Amino acid sequence: MGTPRVFSGIQPTADSFHLGNYLGAVKQWVDLQETGDALYCVVDLHAITMPYDPATLRRRTRVAAAQLIATGLDPERCILFVQSQVPEHAELAWVLSCLTGFGEASRMTQFKDKSAKGGAETASVGLFTYPMLMAADILLYRTDEVPVGEDQRQHLELSRNLAQRFNHRFGETFTVPAPYILPAVAKITDLQDPTSKMSKSSSAPQGIIDLLDEPAAIRKKINRAVTDTESVVRVDDEAKPGVTNLLRIYAALCGEKADDIAARYGDGGYGGFKKDLGDLVVDTFSPIRERTARYLSDDAALDAVLNEGARRARKIATETMARVRERSGFPPAV
Ligand code: TYM
Repeated sequence: MGTPRVFSGIQPTADSFHLGNYLGAVKQWVDLQETGDALYCVVDLHAITMPYDPATLRRRTRVAAAQLIATGLDPERCILFVQSQVPEHAELAWVLSCLTGFGEASRMTQFKDKSAKGGAETASVGLFTYPMLMAADILLYRTDEVPVGEDQRQHLELSRNLAQRFNHRFGETFTVPAPYILPAVAKITDLQDPTSKMSKSSSAPQGIIDLLDEPAAIRKKINRAVTDTESVVRVDDEAKPGVTNLLRIYAALCGEKADDIAARYGDGGYGGFKKDLGDLVVDTFSPIRERTARYLSDDAALDAVLNEGARRARKIATETMARVRERSGFPPAV
């Protein structure tokens, strides 16, 4: 095995990434660009599966890219690009949609949840075929590892199945990708509802910490995070989901074990623990917020990075698509 090919994506559907995106995914992206041959993508085609405004999408795509660079993605060490600039994603998604069973797609829990929210009748067909577009993202680059949070596991399983199905029917073409999910950070929960995932679409503002939040807002949200009526800081998913979530966040940010952190605070109440965690989040996010603003202030430089990323990604994507076209019985693209 040579260097593993790594691919992952994030939707530009909010004005900021949140703590769950950061700890569950983006932090690993930064690490994996050192050891893997990595591509990271702002998936704007996925963002139009729900009703949207073009000007807002355009702005959020840039904010997303700027945050990724500010977090530590280095365009010299990974390929950072915007999905819609590489048209092969949509092309392969069609081929994969034709290999996916209607029943198989209907079982995707994210589709069921999202379509149930707005009423199944109003959900777009794009929302239904979303997982096949995600499979196309991954398979186009012959990806070995996909760093994501737990909520993407089922989509990854579909991607694996589609790779195997295509290979079996038409000949070895795709690498079968493996999920890269770190259990300790795979599901960061809502600060107000610590048994639910922190989510840009369903969390209330007090339940979610944004990467671009001001320090005062971060401290306030952590101080008000739901805990329990005890005063002992310890890991206990069943009895203490709120404190356990805060401990996991703390551990992931400082690199210590959650149990060791808990032992330091013991039964002294939650005030000091929350204050220190607030400081830790602020110290991590403030430099990212400042760098994001800097990258956003130079449109030409950001465009140059993204155009170059798309050019490099497209080179790989067109090679894969040429093989897919040949195996599928299509004439070569002209
Ligand atoms: P998205 O944009 O919803 O989220 C981006 C990443 O953040 C992770 N994540 C979390 N991790 C831990 N705790 C949380 N509370 C939390 N909330 C979000 C997500 O698991 C994800 O890794 N479908 C994808 C985007 C996508 C993609 C791809 C990912 C499109 N194509 C190809 C990987 C490979 C999505 O909507 O992620």
